Parts: sequence; C-alpha cells; structure tokens
Amino acid sequence: MNGPRPINLNRDVPQIIKLLELVFGRRLGGDGQRLFNSEAGMSQPAFLWRLSPISSKLALGYVWEEDGRIVGNATLLATRTDGRYLVVNVAVHPDFRRRGIARGLMESLLALTQERHGRQILLQVVKDNMAAINLYQSMQFKTIGSMTTWRCSMTRLRDIEAVIGSQHEPILRELARQEWQSAYQLDTACLQPDLNWPEPLPQDAYKSGFWRRMDNLLNGRHAEAWVTTNDANQLTGLVGIWSEWGRTHQVTLRVHPAWQRKIERPLLAKAIRRLHYLPRRNIRLDHPASDEFVNQLLREANFQPRRTLTHMRLDMAA
Ligand SMILES: CC(C)(COP(=O)(O)OP(=O)(O)OC[C@H]1O[C@@H](n2cnc3c(N)ncnc32)[C@H](O)[C@@H]1OP(=O)(O)O)[C@@H](O)C(=O)NCCC(=O)NCCS
Repeated sequence: MNGPRPINLNRDVPQIIKLLELVFGRRLGGDGQRLFNSEAGMSQPAFLWRLSPISSKLALGYVWEEDGRIVGNATLLATRTDGRYLVVNVAVHPDFRRRGIARGLMESLLALTQERHGRQILLQVVKDNMAAINLYQSMQFKTIGSMTTWRCSMTRLRDIEAVIGSQHEPILRELARQEWQSAYQLDTACLQPDLNWPEPLPQDAYKSGFWRRMDNLLNGRHAEAWVTTNDANQLTGLVGIWSEWGRTHQVTLRVHPAWQRKIERPLLAKAIRRLHYLPRRNIRLDHPASDEFVNQLLREANFQPRRTLTHMRLDMAA
C-alpha cells in the first residue's frame, strides 16, 4: 500500500541507507553524523541489518512506500531527557517531492511522540534549507536559534591580541573546582540549553572531581576552563577547552549578556595561547550564528565557518 508506515527493520534498512545517501551524501541530515563508513556489507541480506548499530538509529522511524519502493524516511530518536525527542533523517526522493510525503511522515512522527507521552521534539536544519524550514514552520516548530560550527587546524591558528587600544586586560583565572554550578549557570544564561545537540548541557558539565579527573587522565581526556569575574567574584565570562585522544579540541566561549563585547577578545586570546600547549589537532568551536562580534574574532584567529544549523522545537500540547 502506498503511504507512510513504520519501518520494518528486517527489510527496509538497505533501501533507507540508499535513500539517505542519495539525499544527503554520506553524511546524515541534521546532525551531520556519519551513518556508515563503507560499501562493505551493503550486499548482505536485508534482515542482517537488524543487528547493525545503524538499525538502532533508524528503529523509531517511518518510511513512505510507493509501489513497493521506499521514497521517504523520517526518524525519531529518544534522548536521555524524559519526554524529549529528536527528529532526524527527514528525506524524500527527488522524484517524489512536493506531494506531501515529508508532511505525512512528520505527522506520523508527531503521533508516535504523542503515543509515547513526549513533551517536545527538537530538530536541526541547515540555515538556508528553506524547503525544510517551511515544512517545519507550517507544523508549528519554532526557531530557537542558529549555531555556526567553526574549525581551524593548529597550524593555521593565529594568535589574537588580548586587548586593543587603551582597554585594560581583565584578570583571567582558572575556574575553581567548587564553581562548577556557577559555570553551568553562566553557560545556560548565555546559551539556550537546547542549542546544545543532541542533549542539553548536563548540569555537571563543569564538574571536575577526583574521579572525573582520574577518568580523564586514563582516557587521554583533558578539560580546562578560564574565567573572568566581576568585583563580587561572580563569573562574567568563560572559555573552555575539551580534548580527547583522536578527536578535535572543542572550545566553548560564553559571555554573560551584561558583559558582551567586553571580554570575548581576552577570553579567546587565552584559549588560543593555551591550545599551543596541547597536542596538535584540529579545533572546533560552535557559537551562535548571530554573534557578529565573536564571528569577527574567530575570523581574525583564522577559524573558518563550516556550517550553520538552525535549531527548532515543537512543544507538544499536554
Ligand atoms: C525538505 C523535504 C524533506 C521536503 O519533502 P517534500 O515531500 O517535498 O515536502 P512536502 O511535499 O511534504 O511539503 C510540505 C511543505 O514543505 C514546504 N516545502 C517543501 N518543499 C519546498 C520547496 N522546494 N520550497 C519551499 N517550500 C517547500 C512547503 O511548506 C510544503 O507545504 P505546501 O506544499 O503546502 O506548500 C525534501 O525537499 C528533501 O528531502 N530535501 C532534502 C533533504 C532535506 O533537506 N531534509 C531536511 C533535513 S532537516
């Protein structure tokens, strides 16, 4: 029968992979994660795909069938937060677009979320993908904001001045261990927590107790955070570096709204100086696309914008 139906993991996975590859290339839709690495295994019997980790990523999904052929897909993913779901892999074959297929698939996912007592659905979409944005808006998804991913290799990274002109340099110090809650509060005051993907920022993101540090040490991980404070020693800005063996260094820059444009430069300059002491790997920084001031600083440091994703959310009626 033509139309939407729940995915059948015993039969559908190879066809869905082909469809996603056709529509997105080798990268998955919103979150840009790789779905698979090689052609190897594509010829295995369809039911064997049930055992593949890919299947678990597609399991809560709907496909659209036309004359026995899968021409559309949309996947729901549960998150660690109760009632919070993500939509990924929304794809319709180019020959079957503008016939209401994506809308039908999305409506199936909404019904599925309601059945599971879901409270909200989040998704990411490339900022200028107006076809998809129109679709989501027409289904009452609201934009939370857009995040740009910036990247730079260590060899291209350029130092920037911590201050320009007659400004005086603020005092920067390392985040104290007991300040992890203040750091979390600062982070969430600067950035809507749902702009973190796929999970919102964990409350203990800045906690660095003994066991956490041992675990980091044993796993080749490194985390550091540098902060600025006001006269009352409250945090006003923070720059964090997270590194893990074999991965890019992740840098985050957070400045309290009352201090914006005043302390980003010294914070970023500090992070760049620190990065020179760390293993030579690529660096990644995700930052709100609308922050032109920081965008300019990142360009100055030789970062390149890779992509901008708009985050959208639908709050389900109780
Ligand atoms: C985005 C996409 C899934 C839409 O699929 P579709 O089956 O053609 O969409 P539908 O026919 O259900 O259209 C639903 C609504 O989406 C919007 N829309 C779809 N295609 C559009 C286009 N080319 N231009 C503007 N709006 C468009 C319209 O609001 C449309 O409603 P309308 O037809 O009543 O005006 C499809 O174009 C696609 O697979 N694109 C590539 C993959 C992709 O970008 N996926 C989204 C990742 S977040």
